[in-house]
Amino acid sequence: MRRQDSGVERHIPVLLQSVLAGLAPLAGAKVIDGTFGAGGYSCALLNAGAEVIALDRDPQAIREGQALVDQFFPRLHLIQAEFSQLDQIVEGQVDAVILDIGVSSMQLDEAERGFSFQKDGPLDMRMAQTGFTAADVVNYLKMDDLAQLFKTLGEERYAVRIARMIEKRRCIRPFLRTIDLAHAIEALIGRKPGDHIHPATRVFQALRIYVNNELNELAYGLFAAERVLKAGGRLAVVSFHSLEDRMVKKFLSARSGHKKGSRYLPEIKSVPATFIPLFKGVKTATQEELQQNPRARSARLRISVRTQEAAIAADMKLFSLAEIARFEGSKK
Ligand SMILES: C[S@@+](CC[C@H](N)C(=O)[O-])C[C@H]1O[C@@H](n2cnc3c(N)ncnc32)[C@H](O)[C@@H]1O
Repeated sequence: MRRQDSGVERHIPVLLQSVLAGLAPLAGAKVIDGTFGAGGYSCALLNAGAEVIALDRDPQAIREGQALVDQFFPRLHLIQAEFSQLDQIVEGQVDAVILDIGVSSMQLDEAERGFSFQKDGPLDMRMAQTGFTAADVVNYLKMDDLAQLFKTLGEERYAVRIARMIEKRRCIRPFLRTIDLAHAIEALIGRKPGDHIHPATRVFQALRIYVNNELNELAYGLFAAERVLKAGGRLAVVSFHSLEDRMVKKFLSARSGHKKGSRYLPEIKSVPATFIPLFKGVKTATQEELQQNPRARSARLRISVRTQEAAIAADMKLFSLAEIARFEGSKK
């Protein structure tokens, strides 16, 4: 969702009031905004008196954020980096980390970035604008691996059928444009009246997550936040789909020191808790926010408070993620 602000289109930050309330008090606090985007959260944090170290992997977000750097000089430090590295970028410990996972409205709305199946653009999807593109994946990944990717990262029930169709079609003519891929999927799967989402939605989600290595980024971002937060510091994560929210939930639950006992055994403490939830479950958007910003519909916010226990070693096994083939380059 974008808003017109003195001629400039802006991304509307989701669940902003809940994030600010959950991270308060902010005056004098040192905060990492790991997903700067259009700077919506950063701007609000700065207005509340915080010093902000903001990261984004997208060079365009960094360029467009320079005006805010000047406006809030010297309290906003804007750096092009991945949030999985956040503890290596800041010196010392911080009072809060906020991660607003996923893609920004600017990235989605700009056809040339190739994220949207509703606008014709190159099949790109790279947030950092480097590395392999979605077109590389679609045209060169083995059929079985493509099917696995659509199934695991898109939760797509027609994963195998779609991967087979892609394999046949790409020999004749490679997929280079977003609309071309979206139409081919729609022609294969069809669209029943009343279907709420476009039949290409899940495949596009899977490709975006794969191209940007998003699940690994999230996992290592959470581990890094645990290392960089001081005792009493807060971690806020906003996610937009169940794959991500499940990971955040698993991480925070494992770090809360409780291991579920059986019906006959009380809950037993396993490891020291490094995080305590600020509230139970997730916060979602109110009706009022949804009216202004329909994109907030699927947003889920979790906030936890760091304890004084030492950070636990990073271990990807915690997330039980399915194996997905690595992209080995554009040679079949
Ligand atoms: C949903 S938007 C954030 C919007 C922001 N909270 C605001 O209010 O304007 C997500 C942003 O995070 C960036 N991003 C996604 N994954 C990232 C990662 N692993 N490291 C750094 N930036 C990332 C994207 O490039 C995008 O600009």
